[in-house]
Amino acid sequence: MSLDPTILEAFRRLHAQALASDDPEPNAMTVATAGADGRVHARMVLLKTADERGFTFFTRYDSDKGVQLEANPRIALCLLWKRLKPAAQVRIEGRAEKLPAAQSDAYFATRERLSQLGAWASLQSRTLPERVALERRVDEFDHRFAGRDVPRPAEWGGYRVVPDLVEFWFAGEHRWNERERWELIDGTWRKRLLYP
Ligand SMILES: Cc1cc2nc3c(=O)[nH]c(=O)nc-3n(C[C@H](O)[C@H](O)[C@H](O)COP(=O)(O)O)c2cc1C
Repeated sequence: MSLDPTILEAFRRLHAQALASDDPEPNAMTVATAGADGRVHARMVLLKTADERGFTFFTRYDSDKGVQLEANPRIALCLLWKRLKPAAQVRIEGRAEKLPAAQSDAYFATRERLSQLGAWASLQSRTLPERVALERRVDEFDHRFAGRDVPRPAEWGGYRVVPDLVEFWFAGEHRWNERERWELIDGTWRKRLLYP
């Protein structure tokens, strides 16, 4: 079920304003996941695209977040655009699905070589015995791919968050904030206001 055009339009308008503001990280978003044991984990990633199909970000599929999403695809995102007037928070909940390999390939190809080598070298979320081990692995892959394009590691790619809940929050005076929650119920996006 795709995102209601009204919601997407509202998101895009705010996002464009945030990109035009002096916010240092307008694409930074908290990603919360819970693995099989129900323990909840949160970390930041960068939002890459937002369209009617959902919201995408890139990572390693064998990272802790990837392992958690494999066990439980439920996911929550949270963005804060503090420099907007009024300041805005967007909360998104839904399910994560892997992007088609061709889409991850296309985005990987746009990244600079050192960052591509980093994607090979970084065993994201695994124990790093010492910092120099990472640099050694970067060198190894630099030699392995010398003189040619760095291909995408199979374990590196994108997720699309297919939402079933989007909430826009706007700061109000006296903390009388505004909350507009959209939920996908029986195939229809419905809006209601919430007390702050
Ligand atoms: C502002 C910011 C942006 C980040 N963007 C990404 C990203 O797009 N993808 C990613 O895998 N990690 C990103 N990270 C690193 C993650 O926060 C995290 O350390 C990493 O993904 C490992 O998380 P995990 O062990 O829970 O899987 C970012 C960190 C910060 C502070």
